[in-house]
Amino acid sequence: MLKEVIATRYLTPLREGGSLPGLVEADDFGTYVMKFTGAGQGRKTLVAEVVCGELARRLGLRVPRLVTIALDPVLGLGEPDHQVQELLRSSGGTNLGMDFLSGALGFDPLAFAVSSEEAGRIVWFDALINNVDRSWRNPNLLMHHGDLWLIDHGATMIWHHNWPGAEASANRPYDASDHALAGFAPDVAAAAAQLAPLVTGELLTEVTAEIPDAWLTGEPGFDTPDDLRRAYARPLLARAAVVHERVTGLEEGK
Ligand SMILES: Nc1ncnc2c1ncn2[C@@H]1O[C@H](COP(=O)(O)OP(=O)(O)OP(=O)(O)O)[C@@H](O)[C@H]1O
Ligand SMILES: [Mg+2]
Repeated sequence: MLKEVIATRYLTPLREGGSLPGLVEADDFGTYVMKFTGAGQGRKTLVAEVVCGELARRLGLRVPRLVTIALDPVLGLGEPDHQVQELLRSSGGTNLGMDFLSGALGFDPLAFAVSSEEAGRIVWFDALINNVDRSWRNPNLLMHHGDLWLIDHGATMIWHHNWPGAEASANRPYDASDHALAGFAPDVAAAAAQLAPLVTGELLTEVTAEIPDAWLTGEPGFDTPDDLRRAYARPLLARAAVVHERVTGLEEGK
């Protein structure tokens, strides 16, 4: 289970626009990037962060540690910014947090080099989860202490917005031409050979068990949170075996 902390102080919005994640302090004295259930994109974004973040971590990719953050909406009362106040007021209960990587820099493909092995693993993983948010315009990769870290997996698994078509999506191609790491000769075949065998039903059960029940209840067509957990696991399991053949937009021989 993800560690549970309680928000004690809202520090600052991380960035205007987007989902308005905030920097908060918690009762364990940690500083977290907090993503709110009351944000426009809703709780499915948070489910995607947990499923993809915890899967990535188990595949050996670097992802800041995820926690759940309990929020008392009272915390919003003292906020001068109206938008922030609204966000805190509408996000009572369980929210998502991740370790704040202090001093991290946004990844710049022109300033940092990435090996073709590492680029391959990340492109393969993004193809698996249908990540449309790792382009060179908006890489959602951070450099921290010389290493590459993956963040922002909210816009993935597009199929969770249309469950009846979810399993059919296992065969959909993934266009990597805009991917932030497309220029680093990603070795997707090597990544597939290394990572696909790790994506087992067992592993996905472990990963989806990390999703808080609170974000799974009441989904139309599903009786229990565990039914919905299995629905997340199925397309990922099917896709893992074939996805390397579905990656398009990378230069041949690179
Ligand atoms: N764990 C972290 N440590 C340090 N900085 C972070 C962390 N997570 C996010 N950030 C910073 O905050 C920015 C916004 O975070 P993120 O991309 O996750 O949110 P978002 O609302 O999905 O953003 P957008 O949709 O605007 O890209 C990141 O680009 C990064 O600069
Ligand atoms: Mg982002």
